[in-house]
Amino acid sequence: MSLSIIILAAGQGTRMYSDKPKVLHTLAGRPLLKHVYQTAAALSHREIHIVYGHGGEQVPEAFQEFQTSWVEQKEQLGTGHAVQQVFANLPDVDDVLILYGDVPLITGETLKILVEASSDSGFSLLTTHLDNPRGYGRIIRDENEKIIAIVEEKDATEQQRSICEVNTGFMVVKGKNLKQWVNALKNENKQNEYYLTDIVELAVKAGIEVTPVLAESAIEVQGINTRSQLAEAERYYQLVQAHHLMHNGVGIIDPARFDLRGELEIGRDNEIDINVVIEGRVKLGNNVTIGANCYIKDTIIADDVHVLPNTMIDNAVIGKGCRIGPFARIRPDTTLDEDVHVGNFVELKKTDVGKGSKVNHLTYLGDSHVGTGTNIGAGTITCNYDGANKHQTIIGNDVFVGSDVQLIAPVKVENGATIAAGTTVTKDVAENTLAISRSDQKSITKWKRPEKK
Ligand code: UD1
Ligand code: MG
Repeated sequence: MSLSIIILAAGQGTRMYSDKPKVLHTLAGRPLLKHVYQTAAALSHREIHIVYGHGGEQVPEAFQEFQTSWVEQKEQLGTGHAVQQVFANLPDVDDVLILYGDVPLITGETLKILVEASSDSGFSLLTTHLDNPRGYGRIIRDENEKIIAIVEEKDATEQQRSICEVNTGFMVVKGKNLKQWVNALKNENKQNEYYLTDIVELAVKAGIEVTPVLAESAIEVQGINTRSQLAEAERYYQLVQAHHLMHNGVGIIDPARFDLRGELEIGRDNEIDINVVIEGRVKLGNNVTIGANCYIKDTIIADDVHVLPNTMIDNAVIGKGCRIGPFARIRPDTTLDEDVHVGNFVELKKTDVGKGSKVNHLTYLGDSHVGTGTNIGAGTITCNYDGANKHQTIIGNDVFVGSDVQLIAPVKVENGATIAAGTTVTKDVAENTLAISRSDQKSITKWKRPEKK
């Protein structure tokens, strides 16, 4: 038997108060729809159909990498109407799994159980119990505990609203039956929508039993309808990720203050202090420590590196034994070789720094190459931009750059050269040479300071 999957993602998300289609809002850095798609794609299936509509082509354009058939629902007339849009390409013989694009935390395990449960009667439904069921469709059971209907909150009686078992929206139905029942739906309800949920009553009328599956955790099936629910889901997801990392040996000082928006590859004995945000793909070697309030994105960090508090690193390669920060900013295309020190208020961009070199204070190096064993003094600036183009600064090995030096690029400082403090380097400096540009100091003796009138 083949499985076809339908993901509903055409709704507007009115309660988000956003111009962005709801499914493009992100959870742990990934759009909601991507979470659902990736979980679905991991199941063995024939095809995934995604119904989009609100926000137009923005949604398919955002996910060009998905292997899916996109089906437009021009007008959002309800979840039943949304499913109907797929019928032309839906084989009768398939089991059809219906997912919602705004329920991102659903797990593959739960979906597998749901698919298996449908083999009894051809219709399984995932439900859950909520202390506060507000906003959800309520599950109506008869005196034998059999499911006989789903009633939407807006259409429910006072008594039905007190039911705490709710519809998660996930179900598996035989293709042939799904088509027949959905085509028979009416929109005679408070919202004048074609509710997919009404097929439960039609199934019961046709003598087909709905097999319930109870979701173990309520958060897993929580729909994201408001920004508060999105934030709740985010915290939950982050905690799960943090505990998973700790389980694999990462020391995280406070899992409630750790955010991973992407993938983190770990080594042994990594220690992460509070308020660290990791984005994209980050790889850590062994014995790496990351101080409080650091942001690290798309970066590879080798063994024995210490990233001190309040440091930002984006798209860089950091060699073994480096020490970075506090308050350093490493911008894209920067490579640090082994044992490099980068200190406070230092910004590096498109720069590589050789083994053992130090850039410890208040410095900007852009479009630069620094050799090995070189010391860059406080307040050194590579003037790499002339207002139109960027130019390179090349600094050799064992160079000593004194404090408050400007290097007007393009310029080259050869091995062993010394640049005196306060120098503006406008010409290349040859090997083992001292470059100094400073006006002579004048001394005016017995100087009287102005007095306040
Ligand atoms: C729906 C269910 C409700 C369930 C809840 C679980 C119906 C009628 N109600 O309510 O029983 O408890 O989900 O989260 O199904 N969508 C479309 N096209 C449309 C309408 C909706 O694609 O015309 C999509 C939305 O993008 C969303 C999903 O269907 O991904 C659910 O729609 P939503 O409006 O959020 O339904 P709920 O009111 O949450
Ligand atoms: Mg919803």
